[in-house]
Amino acid sequence: MEQGAPTAVEYTVRDRVAWITVNRPKKLNALNRATVQEITVAATRAIDDPDVAVLVLTGAGEKAFVAGADIGEMAAMDARQGQDFGRFLQSSFDVLERSPKPVIAAVNGFALGGGCELAMACHIRIAGENARFGQPEVGLGLIPGAGGTQRLQRLVGRGKAMELILTGDMISADEAHRIGLVNRVVPAAELRTRVAAAAAGLAAKSPVALARAIDAVMTGGDLGLDDAMRLEAALFGLCFATSDMKEGTSAFLEKRKPEFSGT
Ligand code: HXC
Repeated sequence: MEQGAPTAVEYTVRDRVAWITVNRPKKLNALNRATVQEITVAATRAIDDPDVAVLVLTGAGEKAFVAGADIGEMAAMDARQGQDFGRFLQSSFDVLERSPKPVIAAVNGFALGGGCELAMACHIRIAGENARFGQPEVGLGLIPGAGGTQRLQRLVGRGKAMELILTGDMISADEAHRIGLVNRVVPAAELRTRVAAAAAGLAAKSPVALARAIDAVMTGGDLGLDDAMRLEAALFGLCFATSDMKEGTSAFLEKRKPEFSGT
């Protein structure tokens, strides 16, 4: 991560947005252990940096976001190592999903297997029209192991998730949009600017409200409805104790733009 060190992940901050770029284009940005570890280090750095408001995950090159876990590395694993690798990826991707700052996946090409799972761990997915999505693991004698069997059905429904996982078929960005797997499809050449614009919009919002909204959606989504509603009310109530709520409501009433302090 430090300058001069060999790195499979690039990290740059511009306009309060941390761009985390998986940088193994010759291997279509396939995820080996070291790369996943670097993604987690980069994400933690962005979450901890008070000058960062939004995280963006993307892939280097024009062909791939991430074409999956590194098949060469997995080929040598035994059952125990496979299970450990799955848990390692799951917990690494959880860091993104649990980030109190919004995480956008800028999907610039193939998002397959662990790459599709990585995109699904982000809060918002914006895809270039050249993007391709799929869970092709069954063709390798595997199943999705980085959260895919669970996150995919939560995003697109069990029927479609089952079909994608059993067939291993790749789908286009438009089809991914149609089934709810991605939020937006944009021309490939405009992906970075469109993601930067979306990130700037989020960066202008109240950071504490964003964090509580993410918590309500993610934590509430795994609870029963009654408990989830109670959680929502508690998080909603906590907003009233913040300067951001005073500022946001005052700014509206005074017909000016809010300036949030994040407190
Ligand atoms: C290792 C990979 C790779 C991967 C591509 N490469 N995907 N290496 N792991 N997942 C490498 C190729 O071996 C090749 O290296 C180079 O990247 C370029 O790829 P090509 O196959 O030559 O490109 P192309 O013909 O355009 O085909 C693109 C592709 C294909 C359709 C995306 O590469 C492909 O099918 N890749 C594998 C996709 C996949 O099955 N992903 C799921 C993995 S399992 P060389 O050295 O030959 O040039 C998984 C499990 C997650 O993700 C859960 C873990 C817990």
